[in-house]
Parts: sequence; C-alpha cells; structure tokens
Amino acid sequence: MAILVTGGAGYIGSHTCVELLNAGYEIIVLDNFSNSSPESLNRVKELTNKNFKTYNIDLLDKVNVEKVFLENNIESVIHFAGLKAVGESVEIPVHYYHNNITGTLILIDIMQKYNVFNIVFSSSATVYGAPKQVPISEDFSLSATNPYGRSKLIIEEILNDVYISNNNWSIALLRYFNPIGAHESGRIGENPNGIPNNLMPFITQVSIGKLQELKVFGSDYSTPDGTGVRDYIHVVDLAHGHLKALEKIMTRSGVEAYNLGTGKGYSVLEMVAAFEKASNRKIPYSIGPRRTGDIGECFADPSKAERELGWKAEKGIEEMCIDSWRWQSQNPDGFQKDKNSIAHVLV
Ligand code: NAD
Ligand code: UD1
Repeated sequence: MAILVTGGAGYIGSHTCVELLNAGYEIIVLDNFSNSSPESLNRVKELTNKNFKTYNIDLLDKVNVEKVFLENNIESVIHFAGLKAVGESVEIPVHYYHNNITGTLILIDIMQKYNVFNIVFSSSATVYGAPKQVPISEDFSLSATNPYGRSKLIIEEILNDVYISNNNWSIALLRYFNPIGAHESGRIGENPNGIPNNLMPFITQVSIGKLQELKVFGSDYSTPDGTGVRDYIHVVDLAHGHLKALEKIMTRSGVEAYNLGTGKGYSVLEMVAAFEKASNRKIPYSIGPRRTGDIGECFADPSKAERELGWKAEKGIEEMCIDSWRWQSQNPDGFQKDKNSIAHVLV
C-alpha cells in the first residue's frame, strides 16, 4: 500500500517525502513540475537512499491521473499540488481556480472511484482572512481576501461536502502558518521563481547579494515594534505534522481542520535580527509602506493538533534561520543548475 503525494517535488512536498520514506512508507509522487524541479526528487532519493515512482502528470489530466490509481495500490493521498502566489492569483484568478479547484475535484472523483477515502489537504492560515484576535483557533470564522485564499476555502468546503455525502471519507485540512527553513542537510529547500514574495526567501536572497535590500512592509502596525508579526514554522516540523495527520486519518473517518504553527509570533525586524545572527551577515533594509491586503498580526493556537494528533513544533527560530541560510548559501541558484535533469524514475 502506498501514499500518493501530489505536488511532492515542491518545497513542503519534498520535505514531507523525506520524512515519509524515513518512516518506512512507500510513496508515489505526482507532479507537473510547474513550480518545481525533478532535481528536488533526486535529492530526496539521495537523502533517504530510497527509490519511488514519480509521475510527471498534471492533475487536470484526468485520464493519466486515473492511470496512477490503476497501476498502484494507493491507500491515502497527501495533496500538496496547487499554485500559491497571492499576487499572481489576483492577476489570473481563473487559472488559479481551475488549477487548484478543478485539479482537486478530479483527484477526489478518482479517489472515490478507486475506494481511496483518506486525504490530507494543504490548506493555509489565509482561510482566516483578517482574524479579529490572536492566537487563531480552528473555530474562528473563515473568509478569503484573494483568489488564492478563496481556492483554499472552497476546497475545504468541497471536502466537507464530500464527507457529508459519504461518511467513509477521512479528511485532514492542515492550515499551515508560515513555513520556512530547510532540511538540515542543505540539499533541499525553498526555490521560488523570480523575486520572492515571502519574507524569508527575500531575506536569504539579500544575504547572498542576489537582492540589494529588504523592504519592510509597514512599521505602524499595533505590534511591539510596529512591523508585521507571523507564526514561522520549520518546514521539517510541518512535514512531521503530515505524518501525524496521516496516522490519524488512517484510524478514523470524518473531516477535521488543524492549525500547524508554533503558537509564537515574530516581527519582521525580529526575523531580520535572527537571520543576521544565524548567517553572520548584515541584512540591509528600509521601511516602506504597508503591503495591500496584509494583516498586522497572525499566529496560531496549535493546541488542537497537539491534543488530537500528538504533534507539536519542536524547532525554534534559530534553527529555522540556520537551515534557511545553509540551503541558500549552498544552493545560490536553487535547483536551477539542474532544472533540466530528469528524476531517476520518471514514469
Ligand atoms: P510549491 O509550489 O513548492 O509546491 C507545489 C507543487 O505542486 C509544485 O511542485 C508544483 O509543480 C505542483 N503543482 C501545481 N499544480 C499542479 C498540477 N495541476 N498538477 C500537478 N502538480 C502541480 O508549494 P509549497 O510551498 O510546497 O506548497 C504546497 C502546498 O501548501 C500548496 O497547496 C500551497 O498552497 C500550500 N501552502 C503553502 C504555504 C507556503 O507558505 N509555502 C502556506 C500555506 C499553504
Ligand atoms: C503570505 C501570503 C499568504 C500565505 C502566507 C504563507 C500574501 C499577501 N499573503 O502571507 O496568503 O498564506 O504568505 O505562505 O502574500 N514582509 C516584508 N517584506 C517583504 C516580504 C514580507 O516586510 O519583502 C513582511 C510582511 O508584510 C509580513 C511578513 O513579512 O508582515 C511575512 O510576509 P510573508 O512571508 O509574505 O507571509 P504572509 O504575509 O503571512
């Protein structure tokens, strides 16, 4: 029996594949490499000394997605595949809705056909919109402020309906806060296309001189130093959360949402200071205006995941920064150099 990992070549997917393989799971990866490189999967194999099948398939390609289920004995799915750039989603919403929502509809339709009812879905803290207070717990009201966020919210609602229609389904909606860091080997990590939108990859690219300076988006929030506060979580902790969620859905049916965060918030300036300490490099920055759509403060109440999944983030901000720095300094061009390489087993 195998775990199908959609989007397994991506940032969070590749780290989760490593932990799944290390825990003894058989995995199958499905990815269209629209935002990733097959080289990340080569490195997953190198890190774990294990092999697995990889399908270079688009989730929108129903015929070929079905083939994956026909050819393999799939027990559960971890569904990472999706587009995630907020700004881009505002520019090309139809593309985002089609890729994220239609892709998920095709996946769950085929899962039902092959009696596979276990799914862990990559949701996001963005489904809380602009929360009225912090820390954020799972029962807060949900809303969306952009097409990307709305695609996550709609998929959560679809999965709720799917469970109502058939109680065999077992679904975990994992609402990630702000994943950063990289595998401690420095071999896999986040590899954004173009100029990064998110804080940590922006900082790491400033640190190696690819970008000149960080623009801090606003210093007039009602936070201790006026800059935005977020709940940064180490990507390997996040990967472990998927294994715990997987164990859970294999033993019960239902649909449950879980916050995956640390419960602790750090400001932009605190992150700059922590990264400077970890890398021993100066990060030049200047204060600019707020970014449209940003909220001041966002951090999780992660107690439900601890109570029900037995999961808790272990790694602190220092480790997150050291691992981000190691990845960026050892791979200044990400997987770029190897972009045309072919994963060992491309089906
Ligand atoms: P990523 O872009 O690195 O990984 C996503 C993977 O999905 C990529 O390898 C991409 O090629 C693949 N993909 C996209 N559309 C596909 C399709 N139609 N068919 C097949 N493969 C497809 O992103 P990530 O940071 O690893 O995020 C994984 C998931 O977690 C996404 O769904 C994202 O929305 C969600 N998420 C990410 C964050 C974050 O900050 N990274 C936060 C909250 C939620
Ligand atoms: C972003 C996404 C959100 C997604 C989340 C996790 C937007 C508007 N929102 O949110 O949908 O769920 O990532 O992937 O993109 N900052 C700067 N300068 C920069 C970049 C960021 O000051 O160049 C600040 C931001 O204002 C914020 C903090 O750093 O206060 C973190 O920003 P970011 O990494 O983009 O994450 P989120 O804002 O949480």
